[in-house]
Amino acid sequence: MSYQVLARKYRPQRFSDVIGQEHVTRTLKNAIEQQRIAHGYIFSGHRGIGKTTIARILAMALNCRATDKPTAEPCGVCDSCREVREGSSVDVIEVDAATNRGIDEIRELREGARYRPARDRYKIYILDEAHQITDAAFNALLKTLEEPPPHIVFMMATTQPEDIPQTIRSRAQHFSFHAVKFDDIVTQLGDIAGKEGIKADAEALAVLAEAGDGSMRDALSIMDQAIACCGTSLSAELVRGLAGAVGSEVFEDVMGAVARSSSEDALRLLDKLMTEGQNPAHFAKQLVRFLRNAVVAKVAGNASPLLQISTDERARVGRVAEQFPEEDLARFLQIMLRTYDELGYRQEQRFHLELGVLKMVHAQRILPLEQILSQLASEGQAATPSIRQSAPAASLASAPAVPVRKTESVSPFEADRARKIRGPEPEMSDATNVQVHTPAVAVGVVEAPEPSGDPTKILGHVLNELEAAGYKMLAAVLETGSAVLQSDQLIVTVSKPASVLEVLMVREQKLAANAAASMIAGRPIKVVVASGMPANGATPVARPAPPTNGASARSRAAEDPVVRRMQEKFGAEVRTVIDHRDKN
Ligand SMILES: Nc1ncnc2c1ncn2[C@@H]1O[C@H](COP(=O)(O)OP(=O)(O)O)[C@@H](O)[C@H]1O
Ligand SMILES: [Mg+2]
Ligand SMILES: [Zn+2]
Repeated sequence: MSYQVLARKYRPQRFSDVIGQEHVTRTLKNAIEQQRIAHGYIFSGHRGIGKTTIARILAMALNCRATDKPTAEPCGVCDSCREVREGSSVDVIEVDAATNRGIDEIRELREGARYRPARDRYKIYILDEAHQITDAAFNALLKTLEEPPPHIVFMMATTQPEDIPQTIRSRAQHFSFHAVKFDDIVTQLGDIAGKEGIKADAEALAVLAEAGDGSMRDALSIMDQAIACCGTSLSAELVRGLAGAVGSEVFEDVMGAVARSSSEDALRLLDKLMTEGQNPAHFAKQLVRFLRNAVVAKVAGNASPLLQISTDERARVGRVAEQFPEEDLARFLQIMLRTYDELGYRQEQRFHLELGVLKMVHAQRILPLEQILSQLASEGQAATPSIRQSAPAASLASAPAVPVRKTESVSPFEADRARKIRGPEPEMSDATNVQVHTPAVAVGVVEAPEPSGDPTKILGHVLNELEAAGYKMLAAVLETGSAVLQSDQLIVTVSKPASVLEVLMVREQKLAANAAASMIAGRPIKVVVASGMPANGATPVARPAPPTNGASARSRAAEDPVVRRMQEKFGAEVRTVIDHRDKN
């Protein structure tokens, strides 16, 4: 007998054999027992999780000849059941809408539907990939669904139910299939391997399940390939090779390079992978998945059921999550998602992958910039009270800005090329563009996210908590201050010298204040206390008197403490200076 692929050989024949779709099978069985059969069903969900399988079992259940009415437990051996399984039943017609999507096919089907079933109780149409049916064809189908002959049942299987017209959806019972749990897939693969006399250790099975990416069918077909090429003993390494999968230690290594801000290590790792024959797009996709899991591990812990991965990968994802704050991980994910998106239609896939990974390395280096800038600004305040950090949204929007590009950035060649191709990128520009206004100096971050939360309310909560913790003096001082929210910082400006603040606000106090602020804001907030006159929210900052000696705007900008620190810390250069002194 010829080799039958595993997915077919082990296609469940009874509702109870289907894994992970109990919510569907239970409802269907009840409906059958109560003889409440709908004329239209939609089965939607990810590929390879049992939609067609359940459609076929339902067809068997409706037409099984072992009983004189539909049964929740089709016999599986009568002519009708057997023919459904073999795809040869005259009354159960499977249409692959991916290839037969036109009006002619549907019209034919509609014609056919007018006739009674040749032998069985129901005439059943299983429309696979139903979202591909054209609108005209759907319209033709609608006529039948509006006044269905009693013996007709349509079952539509689709990965994109939203593409099925509402008029059709409202006339059908819709079942959303669940993703099959990782562990359940592994168990099923193990069972099947056992029945086939295949030796596969737990890791090999886990790699199969991972390579299947949630699809039972895909996992099984990789198992087919593995058996075909390598016999009855399957190792993880072999399966990885077949599936073009990378061991998750590679992702941990790449993220290690990112954590160390080592572009060189990152490029070396990529070079090794490409030399080994990895496909850049495939690798990017896997890295996206890894990063998504790292974000989940960060947010929900690495024991979370939101992670459908092997124990080994769980541990790795958890370790990577520990190394970065949530925002970094989210940002890495965003960078790699975009990189993956673009790889598809790019010629130089490898270079784009490299660029994507370098962006992560640099994002890592650049990220704290936001924080450092605010600190710089408040240090600047402490030194020269006339130079004040302005409220972010209002003043940044109104004051013309002089962008100072950080000189040390993603290779300008790459960055420029990327920009030429698709315009400036927010994800880089918000980190690398620093605005310097002069003579009133405002330091902010371009396109800073709208701060959410009421700064005064947050400060109020912080004061209560500080008082409760016994830091009464500090609370009393902060109470006289005014607060603004700037991205993840609550900046409280008080009219006390910096030296006093240094004494009052040491580590424990800072932690207590941060915790209180984060608690009420519902996101991480850092409390920064700055010395100076109370800032006044969005109202324009008073400008310092223009220097008397007519010094040029450029030399004043060069003298400016904040600008100087930016030059020191980031190698920023002043390119353009706009003098606002004479205006307004
Ligand atoms: N929930 C499941 N339980 C058991 N096996 C499944 C399940 N889903 C898919 N399979 C396996 O994958 C094969 C393909 O499943 P199928 O029902 O055609 O998926 P789809 O959701 O894409 O229609 C089946 O023949 C079976 O071997
Ligand atoms: Mg299918
Ligand atoms: Zn039967």
